[in-house]
Amino acid sequence: MIESSGRNPAEEAGESQHEAFGRDVTLTEFIIGEQRKVPHATGGFTALVNDIRLACKRIGNAVGKGPLDGIAGKTGTINVQGEQQARMDVVANDLFIRTTEWGGSLAAMVSEELDDVYVVPDRYPRGRYLLAFDPLDGSSNIDVNVSVGSIFSVLADPEPDAPPGPASFLQAGRRQVGAGYAIYGPTTMLVLSFGRGVHGFTLDREIGEFILTHPDLRIPTATSEFAINSSNARFWEPAVERYVDECLAGHSGPRGKDFNMRWVASLVAEAHRILLRGGVFLYPRDERAHGRNGKLRWLYEANPIAFLVEQAGGRASTGDGPILDLEPTSIHQRTGLVFGSTEEVERIERYHRDHNVRPFEAPLFNARGLFRDAG
Ligand code: F6P
Repeated sequence: MIESSGRNPAEEAGESQHEAFGRDVTLTEFIIGEQRKVPHATGGFTALVNDIRLACKRIGNAVGKGPLDGIAGKTGTINVQGEQQARMDVVANDLFIRTTEWGGSLAAMVSEELDDVYVVPDRYPRGRYLLAFDPLDGSSNIDVNVSVGSIFSVLADPEPDAPPGPASFLQAGRRQVGAGYAIYGPTTMLVLSFGRGVHGFTLDREIGEFILTHPDLRIPTATSEFAINSSNARFWEPAVERYVDECLAGHSGPRGKDFNMRWVASLVAEAHRILLRGGVFLYPRDERAHGRNGKLRWLYEANPIAFLVEQAGGRASTGDGPILDLEPTSIHQRTGLVFGSTEEVERIERYHRDHNVRPFEAPLFNARGLFRDAG
């Protein structure tokens, strides 16, 4: 049974959390309030969120020390994604596993930093949930002191009596029980959804607790801010090219208004900005050999962010339609991702339909064609 629930008692009574408690609301109070709404809840999901919170505090603490703790820089090893691992990636991965595996809520985990499914060792009780996570997203930003984060997705174990494996995780994102991220920026925040709204909590370092500071985040339906890595422009599909060209044309172009652009190269920072003030993010598939399925990882980047975005009233898409409706086929699969203000995402989907021939699938782009992979 899924224990995530909806609105807490204060919200049901039409009061703000603050009025109901007469003071700041802590994350502990919030998640226990959520649990009390679910008849027969065992506390397993609450315990898991509690451990995820601690993992994020530990990672935030390590990240906050920067070069002072001697774990800055690269390990010299390459992860399953073919990317250079930062030392902090490895530390964060370890902290995530060690802080969550023991509690009895989890059966298995998938991480960006591990090739295979991590099955919770027999010495701990087996739980009913699966955790997919990116322990340190945007880690190329670490050395230059720009915001990074941790992203997580919680699924119910579909076959609690069978050994968990990759197939257990290959569920449509809409089946997520909960999802969220921690952002390690000027402040450390946790932003979560258990399926009824998105709520943001800021770490009060003096008392060591996350405080509800951003209840019920909503993404405005319209925006004039977009985010894309335009150094990839020459590899884009026509739909993306058209969308960005029209934004850049500004006031005198077909959109009739000026747009602003941002690119942090940290998905968490990008998602956080969009949840707080709107906007649209694109990391589309493109014609490069390694770009044809997109860049972002489906299970532990795209799905949890898409879940939060939809819960906040926005839209998240592969470019062709809602990503949460689709089932991934492997645990480290990549996908194109477009998310944010609904009107813009729908427009981008329309452009994909209008230009639905993917040029790099045409014969000239095949291995022996005129246009070889740009690599
Ligand atoms: O997937 C890792 C990641 O760092 C994301 O956080 C970010 O959105 C993206 O890659 C940045 O990619 P690029 O370096 O191609 O701009």
